[in-house]
Amino acid sequence: MCGIVGYAGTSSQVADHSALDVLIEGLRRLEYRGYDSAGVAVVADGAIHSRKKAGKLVNLENEIAESPLPKSMTGIGHTRWATHGGPSDSNAHPHLADGGKLAMIHNGIIENFAGIKAGLVAEGVEFLSDTDTEVAAALLGKLYSTEAEGNLTYAMQLAVQQLEGAFTLLAVHQDHPGVVVAARRNSPLVLGLGEGENFLGSDVSGFIDFTRRAVELGQDQIVTITPDSHSITDFDGNPAEGKEFTVDWDAASAEKGGFPSFMEKEIFDQPAAVADTLLGRSDADGRLTLDELRIAPEELAEISKIVVLACGTSAYAGSVAKYAIESWCRIPVEVELSHEFRYREPIVDEKTLIVSISQSGETMDTLMAVRYAKEQGAKTMSICNTNGSTIPRESDAVLYTHAGPEIAVASTKAFLAQITATYLLGLYLAQLRGNLFQGQIKDILADLGKIPSKIQDILDRAEEIKDLARNMSDANSVLFLGRHVGYPVAMEGALKLKEIAYIHAEGFAAGELKHGPIALIDDGQPVFVVVPSPRGRDSLHSKVVSNIQEVRARGAKTLVIAEDGDSAVKDFSEWVFYVPETPTLLMPLLATVPLQIFACELASAKGFDVDQPRNLAKSVTVE
Ligand code: F6R
Repeated sequence: MCGIVGYAGTSSQVADHSALDVLIEGLRRLEYRGYDSAGVAVVADGAIHSRKKAGKLVNLENEIAESPLPKSMTGIGHTRWATHGGPSDSNAHPHLADGGKLAMIHNGIIENFAGIKAGLVAEGVEFLSDTDTEVAAALLGKLYSTEAEGNLTYAMQLAVQQLEGAFTLLAVHQDHPGVVVAARRNSPLVLGLGEGENFLGSDVSGFIDFTRRAVELGQDQIVTITPDSHSITDFDGNPAEGKEFTVDWDAASAEKGGFPSFMEKEIFDQPAAVADTLLGRSDADGRLTLDELRIAPEELAEISKIVVLACGTSAYAGSVAKYAIESWCRIPVEVELSHEFRYREPIVDEKTLIVSISQSGETMDTLMAVRYAKEQGAKTMSICNTNGSTIPRESDAVLYTHAGPEIAVASTKAFLAQITATYLLGLYLAQLRGNLFQGQIKDILADLGKIPSKIQDILDRAEEIKDLARNMSDANSVLFLGRHVGYPVAMEGALKLKEIAYIHAEGFAAGELKHGPIALIDDGQPVFVVVPSPRGRDSLHSKVVSNIQEVRARGAKTLVIAEDGDSAVKDFSEWVFYVPETPTLLMPLLATVPLQIFACELASAKGFDVDQPRNLAKSVTVE
């Protein structure tokens, strides 16, 4: 995972910021990618100057305050999520090589580092850390001063030809002030173009304060930046091109906007995230216009099966999609965790539509699963929140969610935007295949259009949920029950609580209770129950009300999310939160919100950093 930023500027042209300013600002925005340690290296006065520190970015800032760096206009910065070697000062990046003349940072895993290291050790190279990165740095240093004869870009080219695995590497050398060389394979890197200055970042938030002009880089490419130029080649040195785009996120949307945490802000951003994802994707007659999809409508009309590939929260969005798409389109939908998919022998062919769902667009498990499915001949579509990221770029089609930057590690607004995008996809397929009448599609779109104000209604009553959360901060275990679309909502509610409040939490299909989990219930056990609409089909509502009674009879403290006007639940609940009426299939867009608020407030009440929970990183770019 790790966040990476690089900068090359000129002091004459850029009056008010140094390399260090750019690097620290970039790392602050990229810290969500990993926060075990942070470090920078700058080139000044014919030498490399580096500072690095275990822990969050603030530790590095304190270190630099105590031991200032000389002013420089060239540098690299890194925020780490540990893979090889624990989080310590010595394992923090940058790593130096070539007698301290060269500094390197890295995101990813170099799989063949042990063999390379053994060779270098035999040649007398000494290593100060346990990292694979220091091995890559040493290799680069050696090639720079031998075969490449002082040509840093060529040395990088020679080095990456020997490396296996996933990596983004950035290097600076004291003999080349004003130059940063980078290489990428299976790990993210974006180029930012300024006036008299150029930038590199793991994603655009690494330089969003300085420029909106960005360039997508392809796989296996090397890019060299100076203040006035950039050049891109493949790993063999052949010229290559990137694709320029304009970043439509503004810096303010990546700020907390007065909220105590990014997570809370992002929960409150959800009316806009859903509205923006719907925006411009249908006309006044209720016809879906997903022209951006890049797969011919005739081909989509022909598909016989959908397989959703995703991890974590994004996989729960896929589980919600299954109910809606199967109901509207009568196409079988399988939902599979990406990391499980390619290790069995999945049955996919050219009539299979793979829908990968990923907020970051960089999740390695999902990327590998998509590549595998492509090899089997399937059509691949990605639902993604990050423009220019790898998964949409490698997919045949993409439907972007417009949630804006999601900084908190725990996903909230991206989840609702993903569900919204899958609804749009389902309606589009139903339109192409004639499964729904145009009037029906129009009605569902109208219901979707009302969701943002209904979410706002829930947010306006957040205090009711926060009160409950503060009173439950000593809970050791919380269970979540749901049925039908309420089941993935229950799973998501449990995941949010686990990951930010470190409380044991489980989500169950309510019907499964009697097959085992009910044994967990004893006196005072808190159980959230997501209750379907009493206006919904069959007897689902009454079945869930019975489930509430079953756990209550065994001593559970029942906490219920129900639809406005559902009087049946009141007598069996310690606490009820009502969400506005909406059609059953759309209910997850509302019922999830109180559970997000609950987890966020409870974790905050326990004094935890909800934006950067322990052991996690926002973008999981290792398998
Ligand atoms: C949980 C969470 C993770 C991600 C998962 C996939 O709050 O954020 O479970 O959903 O790591 O990430 P993306 O969507 O970036 O592929």
